[in-house]
Amino acid sequence: MTETKIISGKAKAEEVLGVVKAASEKLIAETGVTPGIAVVIVGEDPASQVYVRSKGKRAEECGFVSRTHRLDENVGEAELLALVQSLNDDADIHGILVQLPLPKHINEDKIIETILPEKDVDGFHPINIGLLSTGNRTRALIPCTPAGSLLLAKEALGSNLSGLNAVVIGRSNIVGKPMAALLLQESCTVTIAHSRTKNIEALAKTADILVAAVGRPKMINASWIKPGATVIDVGINRIPAPEKGEGKMRLVGDVDYDDVIGTAGAITPVPGGVGLMTIAMLMSNTVTAAARAAGRSDLEPEFKL
Ligand code: GUN
Repeated sequence: MTETKIISGKAKAEEVLGVVKAASEKLIAETGVTPGIAVVIVGEDPASQVYVRSKGKRAEECGFVSRTHRLDENVGEAELLALVQSLNDDADIHGILVQLPLPKHINEDKIIETILPEKDVDGFHPINIGLLSTGNRTRALIPCTPAGSLLLAKEALGSNLSGLNAVVIGRSNIVGKPMAALLLQESCTVTIAHSRTKNIEALAKTADILVAAVGRPKMINASWIKPGATVIDVGINRIPAPEKGEGKMRLVGDVDYDDVIGTAGAITPVPGGVGLMTIAMLMSNTVTAAARAAGRSDLEPEFKL
């Protein structure tokens, strides 16, 4: 049995937010610029509604200008594009986030590519993906969930990840691919696994760092885990919880948490892990974007990514 360390996303997110608030206050004091973020949500998806409310609430707590635009499920693509354009042109807004997924009739790529790269606090624009891939972190905005996940991995392993085997399960543009790019830059040996990967369990078991980002509740159990490995669970899955009462639900990760305790060296809990970091990193990206817009990159929030 290994003693498994629980990596607290709550504690790390609070630390990040402390740095972000201090940077924001300094930016306001020295330039008069208050960081501003606009969050756009289309439709009524309950999970997206929860995330968007949390983002707006956190931005207000940080003292930012915070606007939420709620659009009807049936909004036309042209109308959404026009909103993004107006936010691009709005000098008070430094960060724009369009909550995904979007309804089927809207071309997601087209929306993302319309956001100015320097306001793309999600880090999803091809320019930001390119800057991340070529290692230009001083100009890129880095996707929030991977950035937060990396900070949590470093909580367990320290800042030097060089030479470690990292396996990322999931190949989404939002998490899997940028996560792999970040780990590669940390000089890890990186493998991306996905639904077509052969013998995925044996592959996962080679990982010193295992990142699970598939969206399948409790898919990964102890037999996938190398003893002592650091496990970052990005999954946020809602499953029925009859033990809490009829119709009740609870959140679980992609990892069977109870099963891997005693095998993993460290693990992020769900809830209380990566999810809180995503929002903290979004606040960080907003201050970064505002500092750059004010010509004061020296006032970007700093913590070792
Ligand atoms: N949907 C799920 N995660 C995210 C995210 O990080 N950003 C946006 N815009 N949409 C999401």
